[in-house]
Amino acid sequence: MNYSKKTVYDAPVAGKKVLLRCDFNVPQDKVTGEITSDKRIVAALPTIKYLLENGAAVIACSHLGKPVATFESYVKKQVEKGKKEEEVTRESWEKSLKKLTLAPVAKHLSELLGQEVIFAADTIGEDAKAKAAALQPGQIMLLENLRFNKGETKNDPAFAKELADMAEIFVSDAFGTVHRAHASTAGVADYLPAYSGLLVDKELSIMGKALDDPKRPFVAVLGGAKVSDKINVINNLLEKADTIIIGGGMAYTFKKAQGFEVGKSLLEADRIDYADEMIKKAADKGVQFLLPVDNICAAEFSADAEPVLCDGDIPADLMGMDIGPKTVELFSNAVSGAGTIVWNGPMGVFEFDKFANGTKAMAKALAESGAITIVGGGDSAAAVEKLGFADKITHISTGGGASLEFLEGKELPGVACLLDK
Ligand code: 3PG
Repeated sequence: MNYSKKTVYDAPVAGKKVLLRCDFNVPQDKVTGEITSDKRIVAALPTIKYLLENGAAVIACSHLGKPVATFESYVKKQVEKGKKEEEVTRESWEKSLKKLTLAPVAKHLSELLGQEVIFAADTIGEDAKAKAAALQPGQIMLLENLRFNKGETKNDPAFAKELADMAEIFVSDAFGTVHRAHASTAGVADYLPAYSGLLVDKELSIMGKALDDPKRPFVAVLGGAKVSDKINVINNLLEKADTIIIGGGMAYTFKKAQGFEVGKSLLEADRIDYADEMIKKAADKGVQFLLPVDNICAAEFSADAEPVLCDGDIPADLMGMDIGPKTVELFSNAVSGAGTIVWNGPMGVFEFDKFANGTKAMAKALAESGAITIVGGGDSAAAVEKLGFADKITHISTGGGASLEFLEGKELPGVACLLDK
């Protein structure tokens, strides 16, 4: 995959209307709707400021959440969830859409920029088109949630064209959605010259270098609940890394493959053979493959559960919740001499304080390693932030699914569509 793409610096933006895809899919308080982390909005500011300062009129757009774009699909989904068809009202569908308006993002962005952000009530409707037509250089507007239109996730060419028709240049700065082949992430590039924004460029160059030309030893730390989510990542990294460290819920399937008892721990029985194959493949390739040697377990999956240290086998009535102290030492030693470390997925149930030690220790080990450290994936990024190590990490990716697909070595549609350098 070619990561060398033309950026906004290569685009003749002065006096032009620029359609700017951002990832403003921010977390919100379920009750109040308040934005609980503005990280993604802040991450888009350098590109927005560059465009405004260089005389572009910026038509920003994004999705927020997963709205159901038509009433018919909404009814179908509710019925699948167990509701009776006659109980599903148009009113409840409209309410579900209202919750996902980008209006609060426009307000917050305007506060961050210190200038008005004109908000359009629709995406390609009359309001959006009129406001886009009247937009002047140095001004910015934000379209309503792209996914209110069913053409967005279907990558409908007609929808993409209508979006593109409002502008003269397309800039993609939504790294979090580059793995989606949607109208606003890929489709519009069929109608407009397409450049990367500064965030996409930064993510691609840091992560691309880590994968293609890493400072060695290159250590990959993988965690999270499921082996099945990381199969392609492990496959790809086995070709590139010097050491692979496996923690989190997915480690128990590997331990089972090694012949250990894992009690009530997360286990993907249909992945045991695969896990075994990976351990063997690593040995064949000379890649060090590290698994937990002890675990912090509990009788139930609860924040109040009593932690029990298990060495080796896990008894039938317990489940693994975190890595143990010997494992922390083993993993920390493995990252301490690294040149590059990529981390994706927590080491345990870090949301529960009693089971956050392993994840915390890894975050600390990364922070103190002196290596180029890259944290990708929603959960590991959240862990590093929650545990207070964010400023000691070289790069925390703004992409969850996108950074995972990047580590898988997949072609990302939102990158492939941009102009090559
Ligand atoms: C994300 O939050 O990972 C991105 O915004 C993509 O969102 P999606 O999974 O709803 O496409």
